[in-house]
This record gives sequence, C-alpha cells and structure tokens, in this order.
Amino acid sequence: MDFRIIVYDLVDSTFEVARKLKNVEEFTTILAKRQLKGKGRFNREWVSPLGGLWFTTILYPEKPANTYTVLSLLASLSVSKAIEKVTRLKPSIRWPNDVYLNDKKIAGVLIESELSGDIIERSLVGIGVNVNFRLDSLPLELRGKATTLLEEYGKPLDEHSLLMDILIFLKEYYEKYKRGLYTDVMADVKKATDFIGKYALLDVKSGKVKAFIKDLDIYGNIIIESDGMVSTLTPNDVERMEVIKG
Ligand code: BTN
Repeated sequence: MDFRIIVYDLVDSTFEVARKLKNVEEFTTILAKRQLKGKGRFNREWVSPLGGLWFTTILYPEKPANTYTVLSLLASLSVSKAIEKVTRLKPSIRWPNDVYLNDKKIAGVLIESELSGDIIERSLVGIGVNVNFRLDSLPLELRGKATTLLEEYGKPLDEHSLLMDILIFLKEYYEKYKRGLYTDVMADVKKATDFIGKYALLDVKSGKVKAFIKDLDIYGNIIIESDGMVSTLTPNDVERMEVIKG
C-alpha cells in the first residue's frame, strides 16, 4: 500500500503543517522527528523527543459530526493493533483516545476537524507513539504514567514499519467507518478495551465521579452508571478517566 509521507526533522506541531496543506490526497501524512510544541488533548503539551512517531494524517470523512468519536477510537485501535502485530505485546484502548501498555500510556490520538454544517469535511488525525526513547527523555511528572516501546519491549523497533502498519490498519477501519459500519468498528474497539465492566474515576465538569462503566455505544460514547443513574458521556464531558483496578 502506498501512502504519501512528508517527513520533517523539526516542527512546532505536525498539525500546523497539516492545516496549511489543502487539497492533498487522503492519507497524506506529515511526520516529524521532533516537535517543539506538540499538542495534546485539552491543550496539554505533548512532549515529542527524537525516537517517537509524531504524525498527522489528513482524511476527508464526509460523515456526520456525531460519528467523530468513532474516528478517534478507530485511530487508537489501529495504533494498538499495529503495536500488537509488531511486538506481540497486548496494548489496550483507554477511552476516549489513549493507548495503554502495562497500565501506562504509550500513545495518544487527537483529531482536529473542519465541519460543513453537520458534516465532517476534513480531519487531521494526530497520533503520537512513544517508540524508541527512554523514560528519562520525558519530564519527571510523566514517568509514572507514561511509557515507551523501548522500555516495554526492551529493544528498538523500526519506526517506519510501525508507521506503515498503523496506516494500513487505519485505512482498513476507516473504510468500514466510511461505509457506516460503526457497529463493526466498535465491536473491534470494545475487544481492545479493558475498562468495560469496571469502576472508574472520571474527571467531569462538576468534579470527580466514581462510576461503573457499562458499555460504549455505536458512536463511541461511554455509558456509565453512577448513584443508580445511567448516563451517556461524550469525550468532551470527560477530561480524564482512571480505571479502578480489581
Ligand atoms: C493526547 O493524548 O492528549 C493526544 C496526543 C496527540 C499527540 C500527537 S503527536 C503528532 C500530532 N501533533 C501534535 O501536536 N499532536 C499530535
């Protein structure tokens, strides 16, 4: 499979480059060896040292806005599947956009979309995977929460072939998504999660809530039960989710 990949040694953020690239072929990917201002969810900084996979892939979904979370989850699923294929380790998807390995964050997905009315016209799918660097390249406060493939797998991986595997899975699931097969995509997403049927602490606008995670719906929203009430939350409602073990 051929993908157009544009490689930079150093950028502020691959989003900034991608935003300016209009009318390029779908799956055009901006890859940077380092980012100075990598952007994470809720405007958090995304630390992007040498040895990581930092990229943004340009897609034109033409799908309704309420399917946005399915797109984000299928991107996380693609990263998880690619890591599993290459390392035989088993990552899991942490809703809404993270990939975890051995209970630490190994990758994150952030999507910027341009809407026309209710339709997602263009999506910039930003993916960051901690691959070939040691934990000491990350700030102290992240070291207990994040990890890298070098730390977990024990040897360096070919970043380019991992990127290819991610893009191949991304294409496969994206095509299902484009055909409206949300239930099929979500079935594979659910298989790759480890929080359904568990309790979690959720950071929501009103504070922290302890909730039982019942399920994900076909649009990728989370269905929780708290104080006897069942509710459905979107990623915008939840800043963080911490799964309670046991
Ligand atoms: C998150 O977990 O908060 C999402 C992290 C997304 C990071 C990637 S790295 C490539 C792309 N460019 C950015 O500035 N951010 C995304």
